Amino acid sequence: MNKLNNVKFVNESFPKTIDILNSSPVYDAKTKEDKINLIERLLKEKDAKIIAHYYTHPDVQEVAEITGGNVSDSLEMAKFGANQSSKMLIVAGVRFMGETAKILNPEKKILMPTLEAECSLDLNCPAPDLNKFREKYPDRQLVVYANTSAEVKAMADWVVTSSIAVKLIEHLNKKNIKIIWAPDKHLGSYIKDKTNADMKLWNASCIVHEEFKASSLLKLMKENKDAAVLVHPESPKNVIELADVVGSTSQLIKACKDLPNKKMIVATDNRIFYKMQKAAPEKVLIEAPTGGKGATCISCAHCPWMAMNNLDNLIETLVQENNEIKVDEEIRKKAFISTNRMIDFAKNL
Ligand code: 13P
Ligand code: SF4
Repeated sequence: MNKLNNVKFVNESFPKTIDILNSSPVYDAKTKEDKINLIERLLKEKDAKIIAHYYTHPDVQEVAEITGGNVSDSLEMAKFGANQSSKMLIVAGVRFMGETAKILNPEKKILMPTLEAECSLDLNCPAPDLNKFREKYPDRQLVVYANTSAEVKAMADWVVTSSIAVKLIEHLNKKNIKIIWAPDKHLGSYIKDKTNADMKLWNASCIVHEEFKASSLLKLMKENKDAAVLVHPESPKNVIELADVVGSTSQLIKACKDLPNKKMIVATDNRIFYKMQKAAPEKVLIEAPTGGKGATCISCAHCPWMAMNNLDNLIETLVQENNEIKVDEEIRKKAFISTNRMIDFAKNL
């Protein structure tokens, strides 16, 4: 018998969904609708909420939305998690997002559909190496992008996301504070150009945004003269220079809605189109090109790690309560200071 038929008719006097599912390792939810129904029931039983990033599969974003969870950029994901009373958070994104949730919410159980979802920025900024870099500049404050490990956050004076990075560096620059910025060199150089702050940059980049190519983008812009160009600041400098709006994922969605242009050329992971199109159904969305000189792929504007989240591993995680994010308590306490500083700074903007 299909276990989901049971699920639909369960009431308080019947066994819980989780007991039914645990009695058999086979979760035979076949259709998307069955899977979403099952996730909804499991979330209620476990007192859990889903927090998903815009780059995850639209099905994952949809289930987060309709179950009272959250779909947003990395700052809003962190804020949402910190404001929840639920006992458990399921973070559908990449590992640093799960760790940020744990850093801010030690009392909650933080699970992820997979623990293998990494981020090239995090991977290319190991804490011991960053420490050596910092030792060269003892008179500087260390500001790290949220796309870093808990160990790196624990070393930092400040954590920041792309949505408030320019504002934070402006604030520090006004106080004549000199900065070490890690890990994203493109975001770092964009902020440095915008603020004129004294910044030493770590050398890492996002493998997804690195692929956007200015020469092909220029060609596309000539073919679509009426289009606005929206660019995430993890993109290379010559791509950023062609943008009408540069911003975090949430800021790009807002710009798509607010700008008068009907067409938008978008230089960020194309899964953002799900929410962008919902926010502005009348707009025509065009992927910025990733093919051209120096490109390693064609139209690969897609984060392979974010794509590892799906309805099946969400169900499995909810049933088995596996893939729990654990952060050493000493590291967590230190990382809390720099991460919570970001949350407080954002409150005052
Ligand atoms: P946002 O904070 O803009 O969502 O960026 C996170 C990220 O990883 C972009 O690649
Ligand atoms: Fe990291 Fe880039 Fe993926 Fe964002 S898109 S999670 S920066 S690899």
